[in-house]
Amino acid sequence: MPLIHECVVTTLIQNSKPHIAPLGLIEDGENWIIAPFRPSTTLINLYSCNKVTASFTDNPLIFAKLVTGNCDIPLLPLSSWPAPRLADALAHAELEVIDIEEDELRPRFMCKVRRIETHQPFLGMNRARAAVLEAAILSTRLTRLSRKKIDQEITYLKIAIDKTAGPIEREAWELVLEKINNT
Ligand SMILES: Cc1cc2nc3c(=O)[nH]c(=O)nc-3n(C[C@H](O)[C@H](O)[C@H](O)COP(=O)(O)O)c2cc1C
Repeated sequence: MPLIHECVVTTLIQNSKPHIAPLGLIEDGENWIIAPFRPSTTLINLYSCNKVTASFTDNPLIFAKLVTGNCDIPLLPLSSWPAPRLADALAHAELEVIDIEEDELRPRFMCKVRRIETHQPFLGMNRARAAVLEAAILSTRLTRLSRKKIDQEITYLKIAIDKTAGPIEREAWELVLEKINNT
């Protein structure tokens, strides 16, 4: 299996209004692949906008907000690139779609990495942040997974929250858990 970079992808709706969504970018040699399941707004946008931006962040609240329907996250424009980045990004990559592999379930958009820029230092891995990320992904798959599987995963992930979370990680965890418990 190739390495997957979990990030926030900015596409443009009808080539103007920015749209952000958490997605995993699949490494494929020098290129990266965006593979959105149908249906998705990002997928629709990718057919008309071939310049997209991936923002890399270690802020779990951004992922928690996005999976719970709050897309009001500050963005910053980029010089000479149409899709803005997250204001809070540690780094961003400017990606150009160069090929599309059609699929009924999950088309793949092959992207050339045009530029990567760093904005803030990365201060190390954190188990609670990783746990929020896992729970956020689970919360987007509630209809595809059994309740038993979800409950087992949450019980395990909570260990990292209890041992290593700061206030932002706890807030993010509560947001995601509320979604899981109320769906
Ligand atoms: C960390 C993370 C990674 C994700 N990766 C993908 C992915 O690679 N493909 C996908 O279809 N959905 C992925 N999802 C779920 C999408 O974010 C979700 O389907 C979302 O609704 C798509 O957004 P859109 O319809 O607004 O474009 C991921 C979610 C999270 C939290």
